[in-house]
Amino acid sequence: MKDGKFLTLGIESSCDETAVSVVADGRTMLSNTISSQIAIHTLYDGVVPEIASRHHLENINSVIGESLTEAGITLDDLDLIGVTNGPGLIGAVVIGVATAKAIAFAKDIPIVGVNHMHGHVSANYIQYPDLEPPFISLVVSGGHTQIIKVTDYNKCEMIGSTRDDAAGEAFDKVARVIGLGYPGGPKVDRAARGGDPRAVDFKRVWLEKDSYDFSFSGLKTQALNYINQERMQGREISVPDIAASYQAAIMDVIIQKSVRAALEFGGEAPKLVVAGGVAANSALREGLASAASAHGIRLYIPDPVLCTDNGAMIGAAAYYRYRAEGPDDLTLDAYADLEM
Ligand code: KG4
Ligand code: ZN
Repeated sequence: MKDGKFLTLGIESSCDETAVSVVADGRTMLSNTISSQIAIHTLYDGVVPEIASRHHLENINSVIGESLTEAGITLDDLDLIGVTNGPGLIGAVVIGVATAKAIAFAKDIPIVGVNHMHGHVSANYIQYPDLEPPFISLVVSGGHTQIIKVTDYNKCEMIGSTRDDAAGEAFDKVARVIGLGYPGGPKVDRAARGGDPRAVDFKRVWLEKDSYDFSFSGLKTQALNYINQERMQGREISVPDIAASYQAAIMDVIIQKSVRAALEFGGEAPKLVVAGGVAANSALREGLASAASAHGIRLYIPDPVLCTDNGAMIGAAAYYRYRAEGPDDLTLDAYADLEM
């Protein structure tokens, strides 16, 4: 506690960012320190789990130190530690959890494990201080694509998810094949700005009429086949056109289904709350903004830095979990798979 504020340290290490933030009263970000490993994993065209774990281990103490300094506090001012305990790369998640437990034990501070996906949704509590449940949430990240009915801070129900690849994964794989490399999402986003989204006729995959599920693996195969065919026939492929067309085929389905869910489940004043790394995508942001305004839906999307992995979202989620359910004990474990 400092200046009457309840202070949470949010720790995130589930993939390729070591990220730590100090959050006041579950809503205000006092610091947001992120040590990204993008430059390292770029060499391998993707995240190498063992290398990620080693870098988390090397960096986590200094990232925590920097984040506390930036917030103008010390460990003694903290009221709570929140840490991602899954889902994620297990060796990476373990580093955050073990570090958080060590500090909690040494300083006698309560600790709460946070589901990474719940963290993504909670980034919106930081971005929008007045946002309250209930709402419909679209979560689009590297490993997950889900539509969730959020009924309270700690209560939610999944109404749709991907049956195969996540949206982020679909971006990353095709980016590799067209030579854009890792991380695929932002590079496809950038390349697409110079391309025509109608240049290649990729089929949208809608599944059953009422389904809120997604499937992107067929689309990925369509893209790979198209690229191979063009190359075999000696034609030069247009990276911007493929990027724009592929991105549009993914986003059309995501936008249509999440808007339909908001209208069906959102009551009289539907709110659509977007989260996850893919929510940084400019076509998704623009498409959702115009669809939401056409249908009278209030749209919430965090700034890109709060869409991709960060500690603030974990701090916010931890605050609300702690208030509802109290702390975890020091047997808190790390999990590669963890249901919301
Ligand atoms: O949420 P996140 O940071 O990490 C996970 O929890 O997975 O999401 C990472 C994913 C990656 O697949 C990355 O390519 C994608 O988000 N991504 C984007 C953009 N920025 C990040 N995808 C599309 N457009 C972007 N601008
Ligand atoms: Zn994430």
